[in-house]
Order: sequence, then C-alpha cells, then structure tokens
Amino acid sequence: MHATMSEVEEIVSTAGGGGSSSPAPVWWFALLLALGLRTAVASAATFISWLYRTRFRPGRDLGARYGSWAVITGATDGIGRALALELAREGLHLVLVGRSPAKLARVGDEARRDTSIKVKTVVFDLAGDGAEMGRGAASVAEAVDGLDVGLLVNNAGATYPCAAFFHEVETETWERVVKVNVEAATRISRAVVPGMVARRRGAVVNVGSGSALVVPAFPLYAVYAASKAYIDQLSRSLSVEYKHYGVDVQCQIPLYVATKMSPVKGESPFIPSPEEYARAAVRCVGYGPRCVPYWRHSVQWFLASLLPDSALNLWRLRVGIRNRNQMMKGAQS
Ligand SMILES: NC(=O)c1ccc[n+]([C@@H]2O[C@H](COP(=O)([O-])OP(=O)(O)OC[C@H]3O[C@@H](n4cnc5c(N)ncnc54)[C@H](OP(=O)(O)O)[C@@H]3O)[C@@H](O)[C@H]2O)c1
Repeated sequence: MHATMSEVEEIVSTAGGGGSSSPAPVWWFALLLALGLRTAVASAATFISWLYRTRFRPGRDLGARYGSWAVITGATDGIGRALALELAREGLHLVLVGRSPAKLARVGDEARRDTSIKVKTVVFDLAGDGAEMGRGAASVAEAVDGLDVGLLVNNAGATYPCAAFFHEVETETWERVVKVNVEAATRISRAVVPGMVARRRGAVVNVGSGSALVVPAFPLYAVYAASKAYIDQLSRSLSVEYKHYGVDVQCQIPLYVATKMSPVKGESPFIPSPEEYARAAVRCVGYGPRCVPYWRHSVQWFLASLLPDSALNLWRLRVGIRNRNQMMKGAQS
C-alpha cells in the first residue's frame, strides 16, 4: 500500500510538470484554447456567410439598379438560353446574340411568352474571321445604341469536341475556342461597356469555368481552361477599373451543368439543369468580382481545396485520358 502511494505521488508530480521547479503549463493550455476558439469562430463565420450567400441572400432588382435591357451571348442553348428566360421573367428586355437565326427566334418567342418584354436579336458567328468579328461587334453596338442596357452576359462558349492532348487538337478547334471564349467576349464587352460608363451604371457577367480555378490544371482541355483563366483575370481587372463608374464586373464560375457542352451527361446532385443553374446565377449578379453561383458547386470546390495539387492533377489527367479514349472509340464505331 505504501509503495503504491509513492508511485501515485510520483505520477501526480510528473504530470504537474516536475514539482515547484517546473510550473504547470497553464499558459500553454490557455494559448491553445484561444487559438482553437479563434479557428472555430472563424470557421463558423465563414460557414454562416457561405450559407447566407448561397441560400438566403436575395437577388438584386436588376432592372432598377442597372437598367432595363440585358444583352446575352450564346443565348440559343444551355445556360445562355436558361439565363435569357430567367431574365425575361425578371422583366428585363433582351438583346439575344447567337449564330443561328432560327434558334434566336425560337428563344425570343419563348422569352416573350407570358411576359411583356421586348426582344432584339443579333446574328453573329463569334468564331468568324477578323472582318466578321469586327462586323459582328459593330452590329451589337448598333443594336444597343440608345437602349438602357443594364446587363451584359458574356456566356457563349466553345470547347473541344473531344478530350485531346494539346498536340492532337486541330488548329481550327483551338482557334474557335480562343475566338469565342476570349476574342468575342472582349469585343462585345468593348461594344457594350462604353454605354454603361456613360450612364454610370451597369453589370457585366462573364461566364468562366471551374476548369481554370477549382483544379490546379485541366489536362486534355488545356486551351479551353486557359481561355477561361483569361476571362477570370479580365473580369477581376475590369471590376476594379469600372467600380467607380457604377459598373459591376463579375466572373461567374460554373462547374458541370447538364448542357450539350458538358462531357458528363445528365443531371445529378452536383450537376444542375441549366434552368436551376440560371436561377442561382441571376441571384448572384452584382455581388463581388467572382462567384460560384450554384451552392453544390461551391461544396465541390471546397472539397477539392482539401486535396493536394498532385492528387488533383493525377485525377484530372486520368479523367482526360479516359474521356479521350472513350470519345475516340465512339467516333470510330
Ligand atoms: N456546361 C458546363 O458544364 C459548363 C461548365 C463550365 C463552364 N461552362 C461555360 O458556360 C457557358 C455556356 O455553356 P453551355 O454549357 O450552356 O454550352 P452550350 O449548351 O453548348 O451553349 C453554348 C452557347 O454558345 C453558343 N455558341 C457557341 N459557339 C458559338 C459561335 N461560334 N457563335 C455564336 N454562338 C456560339 C451556342 O450556340 P448554338 O446554340 O448555335 O450552338 C450556345 O448558345 C460557356 O461559356 C461554357 O464555357 C459550362
């Protein structure tokens, strides 16, 4: 019994830091507790702010804040068509830009159904040569002349028909990607922004892509991802340049959406329909230079941020090569 008590005393004295010569590490404990609390409070604040932004924050009254007309490129299909219909429901008049007169007319009719909005269309092949580009941008400038254009959505986008290594991509394919995603978005912004500056109000939404931001690299779609990185940087710089003119410039970042462009077909919990995506996108307009409108996409981005770049690169490379092989097999059979 006596021996046991001594052992206990020794253990207690060791646990206490070795007696009076080593004081109890209370301040270490307090420091760790303070750091833990700080991290917990910061994480809770980030989560609450994310929840508010993605689920509860009301959209802006776009017509009252920015102007009564919206210009949308690539309005004939996918996200652009859904955005056009959503903006029509918000009461905005539309200038629809696309390459197919029949598809433009069809979307125009859909937008006018059950609303009293006006619709103008501009036929413009955004992958045209230099002269066509110049003429197309001039016709957009002419179409918006005298209109109270509050919103420009540079949505039209092109990608590869098939995942491919850079050296395999046809010149015509990568040139089309650069023309539609980079040159046309720049030219159309150049045609529309001066009116917004003169009116001292407006919003520009450039549709980017998770391929340029959510993952460190997007192998086998390199030119596409690079074109979207351009869009992100253009948006952030213009947002600083034009803030003082009352013009909000924003890059919206979708991940996969169930459209004809997406290599992953069909809807799923992380792949919304274009309509669901467009509702979220419209609610985001005017809130910051960069946003991920669809809340489940932002969850995906958060999960990706937990992984090391090397793991994400390996995963994307494997996905790219698998898509390439499947698509090539499909094209041959
Ligand atoms: N879907 C996704 O998973 C996803 C993911 C990230 C980012 N995005 C981006 O979201 C935007 C919309 O894509 P989406 O998924 O809605 O694609 P989509 O369904 O293929 O629609 C693309 C739109 O762009 C138009 N377009 C393409 N090339 C054109 C050209 N040369 N001249 C004029 N218009 C042209 C198309 O016109 P037609 O109707 O004539 O084909 C269509 O209206 C793109 O910028 C894309 O990069 C999409």
